[in-house]
Amino acid sequence: MSVLQCRAMQTFDPIEILGARFREGIARAYPQVGMDADPLISASRQAQFGDFQSNAAMPLGKRVGANPREVARAIVAQIDVSDIAEPLTERSIAGPGFINVRLQPKALATLLDGLDHTEVGLPAAEHPMTVVVDLCGVNLAKQMHVGHLRATIIGDTIARLYERLGHRVVRQSHVGDWGLPIAMVTAKLLDLEARGELPARLDLDDLNRLYKLAQAECAGEQRALAFVRRFGSNAKIEAELSEIDAEADEHLAHAKRVLVALQSGDAKVRAVWQRIYDVTMRECLRMCARLHTLITDEHSAGESTYAEELAGVVADLAARGVAEESDGALVVRVEGIEEPCLVRKSDGGFLYATTDLAAIRRRVQQIGADLVVYCVDARQSLHFKQVFGAATRAGYATKLGATEPSHLKHAAFGTILGEDGRPFKTRSGESVKLADLLDEAVSRARAEVEQRSIDLSDAERQEIAEAVGIAAIKYADLSNDRVKDYVFNFDRMLAFEGNTGPYLLYALVRIRSLFRKAEAEGIPFDPHAAISIEQPEEKALALELLRYPKTVRSAAEALEPHRLCGYLYEVCAAYSTFYDRCHVLKAESEPVRASRLRLVELTGRVLADGLQTLGLPTVERM
Ligand code: ARG
Repeated sequence: MSVLQCRAMQTFDPIEILGARFREGIARAYPQVGMDADPLISASRQAQFGDFQSNAAMPLGKRVGANPREVARAIVAQIDVSDIAEPLTERSIAGPGFINVRLQPKALATLLDGLDHTEVGLPAAEHPMTVVVDLCGVNLAKQMHVGHLRATIIGDTIARLYERLGHRVVRQSHVGDWGLPIAMVTAKLLDLEARGELPARLDLDDLNRLYKLAQAECAGEQRALAFVRRFGSNAKIEAELSEIDAEADEHLAHAKRVLVALQSGDAKVRAVWQRIYDVTMRECLRMCARLHTLITDEHSAGESTYAEELAGVVADLAARGVAEESDGALVVRVEGIEEPCLVRKSDGGFLYATTDLAAIRRRVQQIGADLVVYCVDARQSLHFKQVFGAATRAGYATKLGATEPSHLKHAAFGTILGEDGRPFKTRSGESVKLADLLDEAVSRARAEVEQRSIDLSDAERQEIAEAVGIAAIKYADLSNDRVKDYVFNFDRMLAFEGNTGPYLLYALVRIRSLFRKAEAEGIPFDPHAAISIEQPEEKALALELLRYPKTVRSAAEALEPHRLCGYLYEVCAAYSTFYDRCHVLKAESEPVRASRLRLVELTGRVLADGLQTLGLPTVERM
């Protein structure tokens, strides 16, 4: 395949190119197998045998009932790779039937050229999809805590991955802004207002306190239980208990009246609710911006925005026989899941799931989503199974005019743990406020920056510390397998060595400073200079760079940002080895220097592109 053909195929990845060649060769050698045999191409473990190997002959031997070495011979006879690799011969076959492939240095240069000139191998998709990413999803009157960190940053990175591939992405924050808990806080604020005690300025801490107070006041049973535990029971205590319960009932009834007023559009109640909404969202969006995510006001699509649609959804489900009665409630049964999806309680109230059904209908049928990705805690897995199943049954997941349903995926994430292996909490057992966490990361980063860089102004240091601190937190989160829990550790995530955010930022800084140095020394950069790959370290770096496009695609497809993290770390490691062994500015000859500068520049571009796709802030110096 010529470079032009590679470009048409939009791949510069030797594994993909060899894969295609081997697939064709296998089909020619074994027409009965056709194009569906896996060519099983992987990087060679031992460089002396070659760069890549195909292990296809072994399973194929079983399939066609022949000796694998014979099979390898038959395949080799049918493949021509001489334009990119050394010709395949009997000597390419090793052991039980491995086929070794060694690339030609010239081919490597050609592939790098191709990568360089096609937006690092990732031109915009020819057939863009619409992708809705459900992320952030904070709740009103509650401080953002570490749980929302993951929903926010993983969600934003998944959105960026699809954007990078040229798809149309719509971020949606399913804000918990409706229902009884919110009505309880609204009721508290209304009481304060009636007594003339509502402060002109409220912040999220105030609201959070009122939220907890309201919860406690309405939870009579729990208070009563605590009472019995402490004092045992007797007539006097029982009288006390029923008083607590009666009080709680009164609070709850009051909150329910407020909910009804809110739902029926009572202006006074609505105005107080709006204040709670504004205070919460101002704080939340500030945090989203600080986290270097692209989540803004226009992406808020809270539960309240579906309130008007719920009765219609439930009526529709019932009318079409999708939902059925069960003990006075209305449920949708979903194949393969024992617990049905509850869409209306026996008291007529709607649920979290009802809102999510309305949300799927809007996302697929109005926004036109081909794919909806839910970046939500793994503990909500059952909920999403139920909702996805019910929505699909109801036809809400199918675009208008389409025959097949769109894809609904739960990108579930694990819990952030403390050093003790239990969910991350403050010493006093409270959940950790996200704002405090970010402040601490930044102040630790500041101390590190202070130690390292001398000739920076105070403002510059602060800016760098902010970027390094945020990058450290984000990278530590994104680089872990999404579904797994991970232990939060400041020292580890802020280290400048190892698989960390600061290390990647620093690698990019080093590359940029090399170019500043070149400029200062009057060494020009020629973007068209011939690339020649001679040294093993150059080759190793080149092979890493060629994997970039495929890595981004697979991270997007699998909804796994950690694949891109791990890859960028490998690139930095390969670069580091290359830089240690191969002189760049002091290269032995002018053509070698020009070639290496191109390799370094391309490395910088892949790294910057990758960091941007992950959503990590970068810096010029540190
Ligand atoms: N507000 C919810 C919570 O904090 C998260 C919302 C997730 N998104 C959704 N469509 N249900 O648990």
